[in-house]
Amino acid sequence: MSCCHYYAPTEGGDTAFSVDTSAITFGKGCLSEAGSHAKALAITRIALFTDRTLMEFPHVEAVKASLLAAGLDVVVYDETRVEPTDQSFKAASQFAVEGAFDGFISVGGGSVIDTCKAANLYSSHPAEFLTYVNAPIGNGKQPAGPLKPHIACPTTSGTGSECTGIAVFDLLEMKAKTGIVSRYLRPTRALVDPLCTHTMPKNVIAASAFDVLSHALESYTARPYNQRPAADSPSARPMSQGANPWSDIGCRESLQILGTYIQRAVNDASDTEAREQLMWAATLAGIAFGNAGCHVPHGMSYSVAGLVKCFQPEGYPADEPICPHGMSVIVNAPSVFAHTAPASPQRHLAAAGWLGADLRNATEEDASEIISRQIISLMRATGMPNGISDIGYTMDDVPALTAGAFPQQRLMQNAPCTITENSLSGLFERAISYW
Ligand SMILES: [Fe+2]
Repeated sequence: MSCCHYYAPTEGGDTAFSVDTSAITFGKGCLSEAGSHAKALAITRIALFTDRTLMEFPHVEAVKASLLAAGLDVVVYDETRVEPTDQSFKAASQFAVEGAFDGFISVGGGSVIDTCKAANLYSSHPAEFLTYVNAPIGNGKQPAGPLKPHIACPTTSGTGSECTGIAVFDLLEMKAKTGIVSRYLRPTRALVDPLCTHTMPKNVIAASAFDVLSHALESYTARPYNQRPAADSPSARPMSQGANPWSDIGCRESLQILGTYIQRAVNDASDTEAREQLMWAATLAGIAFGNAGCHVPHGMSYSVAGLVKCFQPEGYPADEPICPHGMSVIVNAPSVFAHTAPASPQRHLAAAGWLGADLRNATEEDASEIISRQIISLMRATGMPNGISDIGYTMDDVPALTAGAFPQQRLMQNAPCTITENSLSGLFERAISYW
C-alpha cells in the first residue's frame, strides 16, 4: 500500500475503509447494451429519465431501442430540469409512483441521474419530502432498504453521479442547494459510453472537466479516513469516509488524464480522443469521490450556484440565470487548495505535477502557490470564469455566500484542516478574482 505513513492509525480514528461502487460497463457504443442489462436485473417495466434537449440526440433513442428490443415496457419522462429543485424532484417522484415501474434508467447529465435517483427513492420508500434530505435542512433519515434497480447512462463527462449515492437539488423556499445522501441511492449499474462526449458544447465539456478535476483533487486531499473518528458501527461508516488508498488510485489516474487532455478536449471539438479520455477520467474520479468524498470547493459551490443572480453562460438554457455545477466549483478551487496545501504539501505538489506543473526545485513551502497557479492556468486556457466576480458576486456578497456554504458540514468536515466560518469567509474573499 503506497504512502503507508499517511494512513498510519490515529487515536480514535477509523481503522478500515470500505470500497463501494456501482457495477460499471465502459466503452464506445455500450448504450446499446441497456436492454440486456435491464433484463438481467429482472426489470419488465422501466421508466426512462432524460430531458427535452437530450431527446434530440441519438443517445436516448439508442437506449430506448435496446430496451424495446429486449421486450421491456418503456415509459419516457423528459421533464427533468437542469439544476433540479425540490419541485422537480417531487414531480418526477409522482410520475414514478403512478407508473408502477419495477426499474429505472437515466440518460443524461448529473441533473437527470440525480432526478432519477430521487424518483426511485420516493416511489420505493414513500415519505414526506424532507425525510431523506440532509440535516439540518431535512431529517437526514436513511431509507428502510434497497431501492429498485437503476441503470445510469451519463451523457456528460463530469458528474460522476452514476457512481455515487448523492442527489443534489435546490430547495426553492430557502434558496439553498442541498441533497440526499445514501448508499441505497447509488445506481445499480452505470453504462458509460464515451461517444456521448462528441456532441457536448465547448462550455459544457469545460465545466464538466473542471468538476472532474475538483472531484479528484478534493478526494485526494480530503482528510485521511484514519483521522476521521470511527463510527459507532461499521455499517454507519459514512460514504464520505475520507482519502484512502483505493480512492487515491482513481484520483491519481484521473488527474494525469486531465493534465494531458483537458485543453485539447475543450479547445478542439474535433479532438474526439481527448474528449473520450475525459469520460474515463470522469468515471475514475466518480468512483474515487463516491468513496472518499469531496470537501470545501464543492461545499462553497452550493451557495455560488444557489445565489446566482445574473450569470448565463453559453451552451446552457437561456431562460433563467444559472451557474453550471463545474463552474460553481472550480471558481473556488485555487483559493481553497492554496489554503489546504500546508495540511499535506506533498499531496498538493504531486497533484499539481499530474496536472502539468513544473515541480523542479519545488519545496513543500511552495505547494500553495504551485497548486493554485496550475489550476488558474488551466482555467485561463479554457475560458473559465475569473473567480466568483465573473459569476456576478462582490465582496458585499461574502456574508451570504458564507452563510449558505458553512452548513454543508458533511463537506467542510472532510477537509484536511478545520474550516471555521471565519476561514470560509476568507476563502470566498480570495476567490473573488485570480488574474
Ligand atoms: Fe461535482
